[in-house]
Amino acid sequence: MHHLVILVLFGALLCAPHQCLECPSGCQCFAGTRTVKCVSKDLRAIPQDIPGYTRNVIITGNNIFRIGSETFQELKNVTTIILSNNRITEVASHSFSTLSYLRSLDMSCNHLALIHPEALNIPGSPLKELNLSRTLYNYTSLTDLTTALPNILSEFESNLRSSLEVV
Ligand SMILES: *[C@@H]1O[C@H](CO)[C@@H](O)[C@H](O)[C@H]1NC(C)=O
Ligand SMILES: *[C@@H]1O[C@H](CO)[C@@H](O)[C@H](O)[C@H]1NC(C)=O
Ligand SMILES: *[C@@H]1O[C@H](CO)[C@@H](O)[C@H](O)[C@H]1NC(C)=O
Repeated sequence: MHHLVILVLFGALLCAPHQCLECPSGCQCFAGTRTVKCVSKDLRAIPQDIPGYTRNVIITGNNIFRIGSETFQELKNVTTIILSNNRITEVASHSFSTLSYLRSLDMSCNHLALIHPEALNIPGSPLKELNLSRTLYNYTSLTDLTTALPNILSEFESNLRSSLEVV
């Protein structure tokens, strides 16, 4: 009887690795849907401790000014990233290049002023949806984008749904 009680207690302590990992502060992590949400928390940067199991990253309404090449490096299983309304001004070279399964990227409603020509390059070109609605800050970012886009457009597949809207 005592053995049984002890086993049950240990059973509750030992959970599957992805359930035990911590969630970044200010975020909600949903292991079942492999989703991490950080909404309107005044974050200044993308949290670095997002669980490795994550497939959907939803970080909106924060104060993140830059996306760097190291920002999403470890999240290799990610398929969807939503970064709308974060005041992002700069997207660095190869910001998403380790994300071989990234199908959908939403960077709408930011203030992009500097987009590196290779910012959106991902080997194998997995991107199918790219939302840049209301996000280009000025003429510089528009010319940056015309440099960055052909790098991925040339490899885009037929079901591309790209929404570009310059405001
Ligand atoms: C990524 O997905 C693969 C295949 O589903 C899985 O085996 C692997 O454990 C996942 N990586 C992480 C860090 O969860
Ligand atoms: C693109 O982003 C805008 C603004 O966030 C949103 O209203 C629109 O529905 C998005 N478009 C797609 C195709 O997801
Ligand atoms: C666009 O904004 C960026 C950042 O403020 C600035 O460096 C650049 O000179 C601006 N470009 C134009 C054409 O105003």
